[in-house]
Amino acid sequence: MEIIKVANAEEGGKKTFELIKEGMSNGAKVLGLATGSTPETLYKEMTASDLDFSEMTSVNLDEYVGLGGEDDQSYRYFMNDQLFNKKPFKNTYVPNGKAEDLAAECKHYEGIIDDNPIDIQILGIGQNGHIGFNEPGTPLDSLTHVVELTESTINANKRNFEKVEDVPTRAVSMGIGSIMKGKKMILMAYGSAKADAIKGMIDGPVSVDLPASALQNHSDVVVIIDEEAASKL
Ligand code: GLP
Repeated sequence: MEIIKVANAEEGGKKTFELIKEGMSNGAKVLGLATGSTPETLYKEMTASDLDFSEMTSVNLDEYVGLGGEDDQSYRYFMNDQLFNKKPFKNTYVPNGKAEDLAAECKHYEGIIDDNPIDIQILGIGQNGHIGFNEPGTPLDSLTHVVELTESTINANKRNFEKVEDVPTRAVSMGIGSIMKGKKMILMAYGSAKADAIKGMIDGPVSVDLPASALQNHSDVVVIIDEEAASKL
């Protein structure tokens, strides 16, 4: 893993943007994208740039079960609002959280990933080391699946909802195995709440107890962190 320390999220967004730009000039066509507060500075850089994404495809990590693009807490809404409405892509994929048959949706989404191999996968990390919505205990070779969210994830994400009861308890998420199919991984983390997860991801054993530790088995991983997230290394 290559570790790049940055002063803050703004600098992290700029650094990640540079890597994406470089990747695109070398032929990258598919970006794996993430939600949460972490990638917001990256999306600001992308929207402010003069880079053209109209030939690019994006594949997002996850979506809450029960929410659709019209719900402002859905990840589809977040992506449209933060990026796609300002910078049109050729195709943008986010799992359909309102699919009637969720098992079929998972299979369909994994097919989308296989048909659009991800060149650069952007990742954040949960405080318990989750990537996408792959909570501790998720098999490291898992494909797109329906996830029961842990209490810690529901609590961490409740800030975007009026009350904690409104936070969906399930999500459709790319699996750890689906994420690992990507050619290059860029994981960003800022703030002291991520320090334990970053320490475990980099220095701990590869274990289902900390899903991001699977990245130790990937040959091209860049970790972009601020001093606080790096404080336990
Ligand atoms: C959610 C998302 C993850 C994200 C994580 C951290 O659980 N599914 O993709 O990495 O939150 O969010 P934040 O960046 O807001 O700390």
